[in-house]
This record gives sequence, structure tokens and C-alpha cells, in this order.
Amino acid sequence: MGRAFVLSLAKEGGLVALSDIPTREKEGQEVVSHVEAMGGKSIWVPLDVTKEEAWKAAVSDGVLGVLANNAGIVTPYDATAVQPEQISLAEFHKSTSIMIDGALLGHKEWSSIVNISAKAGMVGGVGTLGYGTSKWALRGSTKYMAGTLPAAGIRARVNSVLGLVDQNSDDVIGEMCNALANMNYLKRSAGPEKVANLVVYLASDGSSFSTGSEFWWMEGGNDSASCR
Ligand SMILES: NC(=O)c1ccc[n+]([C@@H]2O[C@H](COP(=O)([O-])OP(=O)(O)OC[C@H]3O[C@@H](n4cnc5c(N)ncnc54)[C@H](O)[C@@H]3O)[C@@H](O)[C@H]2O)c1
Repeated sequence: MGRAFVLSLAKEGGLVALSDIPTREKEGQEVVSHVEAMGGKSIWVPLDVTKEEAWKAAVSDGVLGVLANNAGIVTPYDATAVQPEQISLAEFHKSTSIMIDGALLGHKEWSSIVNISAKAGMVGGVGTLGYGTSKWALRGSTKYMAGTLPAAGIRARVNSVLGLVDQNSDDVIGEMCNALANMNYLKRSAGPEKVANLVVYLASDGSSFSTGSEFWWMEGGNDSASCR
């Protein structure tokens, strides 16, 4: 999804910094090359979102525009239905450190912050304990940061995006997305570009009065079709 965000934001002009964990540099540089081939401007900035020093280094030039907090993981622990005695704080913290701590560390002097949550942050379920808890918390932090940053004199808008279904892979995630797509009115999944369109809107002046808001998106009517 991050790739689609970078390509769509780059089409709007300006410089798009693309971040991921340092070991993903090759993939990151490929996206940068793609943007340059389109005539756009992009740079690779390695960033492990769980590390405060890495955030400081990543934003060291002091020019902060728009941030999309997109980093996320589903761990094997999350994919299973853990019994109470199997709950592992260390495994749980793998999810929360990226999706809660990581986003929290990123809440700085940006003009617009877009937190990528998920439907797992709107409902409960079996398994996905760390993932779902993190996405619920991300929605909560969106609401509080939308008030906290301006109260501290920082002109930042903070919104969150929820309920995405965008994968067509052959793995278990792809199967789950297909099942969800079959439950919606349009009977198909959205591609990442659809989500990227929303990120571009939330980054723009066109959404300048939206803050602390949640955008339910990429559902193809799933919500209206009473699947929650
Ligand atoms: N794909 C979907 O249908 C869907 C649905 C709901 C929500 N989301 C959310 O959208 C976001 C993107 O999902 P995706 O499907 O593109 O997943 P993805 O796995 O392709 O991308 C997630 C990226 O986060 C990066 N990442 C992991 N840990 C990191 C860290 N510590 N620091 C920096 N980067 C880190 C990964 O390397 C990866 O490139 C996630 O937050 C996910 O929870 C996706």
C-alpha cells in the first residue's frame, strides 16, 4: 500500500520521502526509481518507526509536510486464536510497538497526519489480538492527537483511515480479503490506489477542516450490507 501512496502523492508534485525498515532499502529504492521515471521527486529515508532516534534522524532537516503512518504487521501469533494461557506480552508488543508506539513517535509538527487503521480496529474477533488492539488504539490516539497537537501550538491535522480490503494474493490474507469482498455490495476488492486517493485528499488543502475524523473506506458497501 505504501508504494501506491508514494506514487499517488508524487503525481501531485513535491518531494515524497519513502520510509521502511532499513532492510527494505532495495524495495524502497525501486519505488524511488519508479517515481523519478515518472518525472517526480522521491527519496528513500530508512526508518524503523519503533526507534525514537530513527525518527529524529529521519526528520532532521526540519521540513515536515504530510505523514502517512502506514507501517503495520500481522504476526504468526496474531493469526492464531490464542488461549488465555498462551498470551505472550513479548509477542503482543511486537504489534503494539509498531502500530501504537511507532505512530505515537511520528506525531510531530506535520501539517497533516494520516493514520492507517483497519476494520480490525472497529470490531472484535478471534485471533489478531495484538493487531486489533493496536488498530483500536491508533484510532484513539488519532482523536487525542488531533486535540493535543494544536493545543501545544502545532498546526497539525490528524485523521485515520479504516476498513481497507485491498489484497488479491494467493495466501491466507488474500483468501480472507476475497471472502470479505464477496460479502460487500460490489463483490470485489479495492486496489491500493483507491486508498492512495484518500491519502492524497487528506494530505491536501481540500480536507483542511477535517481533523480527528475517521474515514470508513474500501468496503464496497460491506458495512451497509450488515457484515459487522
Ligand atoms: N492490506 C489490507 O487489506 C489492509 C487492511 C486494513 C489495514 N491495512 C493496513 O494498511 C497498512 C499497510 O498494509 P499493507 O497491506 O500494505 O502491508 P505490507 O506488509 O505490504 O506493508 C507494511 C509495511 O510496514 C513495514 N514495517 C513493518 N515494521 C516496520 C517498522 N518497525 N518500521 C517501519 N516500517 C515497518 C513493512 O516492512 C512493510 O513494508 C498496515 O498498517 C495495515 O495494517 C491493510
